[in-house]
Amino acid sequence: MSHFDRAAFIAGLPKAELHLHLEGSLEPELMFELAQRNQIDIPFKSVEEVRAAYRFSNLQDFLDIYYQGAGVLITEQDFYDLTMAYLTKVAADACRHVEVFFDPQTHTDRGIDIGIVISGISRALADGQAHLGISSKLILCFLRHLDEEAAFATLTAAEPYLDKIFGVGLDSSEVGHPPSKFARVFEAARAKGLHLFAHAGEEGPPAYVWEALDLLKIDRIDHGNRALEDDALVARIAQDGLTLTVCPLSNLSLCVVKDLKAHPLRTMLEKGLKATINSDDPAYFGGYLNTNWLAIAEALDLKKDELVTLAQNSFSGSYLTAAEKQAHARAITDWAARF
Ligand code: ADE
Ligand code: ZN
Repeated sequence: MSHFDRAAFIAGLPKAELHLHLEGSLEPELMFELAQRNQIDIPFKSVEEVRAAYRFSNLQDFLDIYYQGAGVLITEQDFYDLTMAYLTKVAADACRHVEVFFDPQTHTDRGIDIGIVISGISRALADGQAHLGISSKLILCFLRHLDEEAAFATLTAAEPYLDKIFGVGLDSSEVGHPPSKFARVFEAARAKGLHLFAHAGEEGPPAYVWEALDLLKIDRIDHGNRALEDDALVARIAQDGLTLTVCPLSNLSLCVVKDLKAHPLRTMLEKGLKATINSDDPAYFGGYLNTNWLAIAEALDLKKDELVTLAQNSFSGSYLTAAEKQAHARAITDWAARF
């Protein structure tokens, strides 16, 4: 019997990433470079010191340091460099398509024009398609710890650039900031033709996932781990065929799971949920897409057919066209046939 080389299989397996915060791909090295370029003080003396600060006991611990790190991003070129660095990394992970988040309020609250942010990011995404063969969609996230009025102001500010924005999402501190707080702004975004996403059930209870489905009417659930606590909710998600963008190393870093062996990814698949593997904030959580794939595959001893399902889910849960999805599905099947 031939040995199945899981690492080699994952390395070349065509895949998409559907849950990635561009600001969460800011590596300490680039943080230092940008701090110098923009003459901004950061409270760290070395890259090692930055990495040592990346020990979190919950989501808020992480968010505090993540928003601080984003403070070095000032110019259009900074946003380009950030985005291009990410795309270059995932190109090496056989990633063919990305649907990425950005947090405009983190920047506009520091006086950066939203047009600068969107221009730098979308210029890099266009180059990523041209030079790396990675297709992409861009999702504007509202920070849920801020109020509804601020979210509406952000949507208005983004109006001139909506040709570059595919959808809106909801992120930041979950507990205490239920989806219901943003029902009206999501309705306004839907009326503008935007697709709707939301982080739900990462730290928040199943009730927040219900709200994201029923009040925000989202198209895909980011994380969704705690949905498993509610059988009726699981049945609803399965019935609606909604994709979950699951982030194993993020869940480990933020203590959503105690250890990867206790991660619910396989349970999600067994319950008929369309789970996918994603990196969330790879510069902060210990690795990019394939590092997440390999870590969870080893922890749960995922088999070849499960890995194929997860790769297929990453494209079927994307917003590529049916023809594009079919081409990627065939590429996965072709790759799998070689093992
Ligand atoms: N912003 C960046 N990463 C996030 C996460 N995992 N949850 C909520 N907000 C975030
Ligand atoms: Zn996230």
